[in-house]
Amino acid sequence: MRIIIENDPAAAAKRCATLIADQIQKKPDSVLGLATGGTPVACYQVLIEMYRQNLVSFAACKSFNLDEYVGLAGDHPQSYRHFMQTQLFDHIDIDRDATHVPNGLAKDYEAYCEVYEQQIADAGGIDLQLLGIGTDGHIAFNEPGSSLGSRTRLKTLMPETVQDNARFFDSIDEVPRLAVTMGVGTILESRQCLLMATGAHKADAIAGAIEGPLTCQNTASALQLHRDAVFVLDEAAAQGLT
Ligand code: F6R
Repeated sequence: MRIIIENDPAAAAKRCATLIADQIQKKPDSVLGLATGGTPVACYQVLIEMYRQNLVSFAACKSFNLDEYVGLAGDHPQSYRHFMQTQLFDHIDIDRDATHVPNGLAKDYEAYCEVYEQQIADAGGIDLQLLGIGTDGHIAFNEPGSSLGSRTRLKTLMPETVQDNARFFDSIDEVPRLAVTMGVGTILESRQCLLMATGAHKADAIAGAIEGPLTCQNTASALQLHRDAVFVLDEAAAQGLT
């Protein structure tokens, strides 16, 4: 586990973007695992700027997102597909057909989740998985209690996560209660995991993930088992570390 502590969120975003660009430099046809939420937005902005300056090209990359809300179509403004289009994909040279965000409207989820796992395997596995962390320690939507060996599946969101994510919706009642998410086991198979966290509200979750026991109550702690997990934090998110 490698812990990188930057002064502020902007520096943390720049560091994450640089690590992603380095990966693409090393392997232009990298398979990227991508995240949504508030945290990666600044990182995506740096990547877009690097693309505009011809410092990085995503033309040969493939991508797989961690999760999607169940019940939201890809063109719904709060869907994660829509988020990825507007925050990143529409501004870089990645091929739209090479990008994958789980389907929030699948008919048969059991079958669909297997297909998503197979698509990742067929792409050769994920080279670098970008992650955020929830205030309850979740990675993707692997809420407390999720098996550390879990695979892509449906998951019910905890009230804390619904509350945290209500800021993106007009009202809390509109936040879907179900999501389709990569499992902890799926994430651990990525060749590198890059978790970004900023802000004091993430400090407890980060302390638990890095220095706490390996536990399904903080699914980010499973990264302690990964051979190449990198945490990029700002000082506020790192303040609970000893
Ligand atoms: C999103 C995801 C979630 C978020 C987490 C933190 O694809 O997988 O685990 O990373 O909920 O969200 P923010 O960054 O909004 O605090």
